[in-house]
Amino acid sequence: MNPFFILNWKSYPASQEDILPLCAALADWRARVTSGTVVMCPPATLIDDTQKCVAADERLASVLIGAQYLDADAKTGGLTPAMLRAANVSAAIIGHSDRRAQAGETNADVRSAWQQAIAHDILPIVCVGQPAPDGSFAGLREQVLGAFEGASATDVAQCVIAYEPVWAISTTPGARVEESADIVRAIQVIREELRGATPKAILYGGSVTGASVSNVLSSGAVDGVLVGRASASPDSLTELHEALTPFFS
Ligand code: PGA
Repeated sequence: MNPFFILNWKSYPASQEDILPLCAALADWRARVTSGTVVMCPPATLIDDTQKCVAADERLASVLIGAQYLDADAKTGGLTPAMLRAANVSAAIIGHSDRRAQAGETNADVRSAWQQAIAHDILPIVCVGQPAPDGSFAGLREQVLGAFEGASATDVAQCVIAYEPVWAISTTPGARVEESADIVRAIQVIREELRGATPKAILYGGSVTGASVSNVLSSGAVDGVLVGRASASPDSLTELHEALTPFFS
């Protein structure tokens, strides 16, 4: 397996000073562990500073820079694929629940975004997840069907899908990593709704930490993790690295 580790720093780092120790921790880990795909997704204002960190440290040469969202069309505050390519961004999180809730992103927006990303050679990391625990996974099915409506198997093969149950994301009160049996079931549901198409990778995201990541990956259902809060502080990032190492060897 080609394991994936996506660091979604959200808006936790505010300045270059905040990202330097994160880049240093990641560089120490990548000096020892070179396999897999690692994507740092800084806030838009820190993309340039993050590029400078990567350029200054050859241990980070294999690490990709990702955006936290992508807009298919030009708009106030938008980040278009052309802007991202010009900033040397090579991946983008698409359809995160924060964007669906706060920026009103719909499945149609998500669809246009991954299509535009592929057209501009940007790796799409498409987030899907039900808003509340739901044994029938109806919300998850609806998002997968809507986000990939009309997609060919070749399209899907170019997308990474991140399963992110909204209630498990750390900004939600009481959030906790979903039970591994439920993760396994949700991934089955995603595969069912993709109707035989196989994505580049399927990831889990939602309150993952160094303490929980082994459990998530040992389920064997996912190819990696998308981590928010725990990836945005040097100590918890270092704990994550230690726990991830066996899966990246
Ligand atoms: P979290 O974030 O790890 O802080 O729960 C995951 C995400 O929202 O992508």
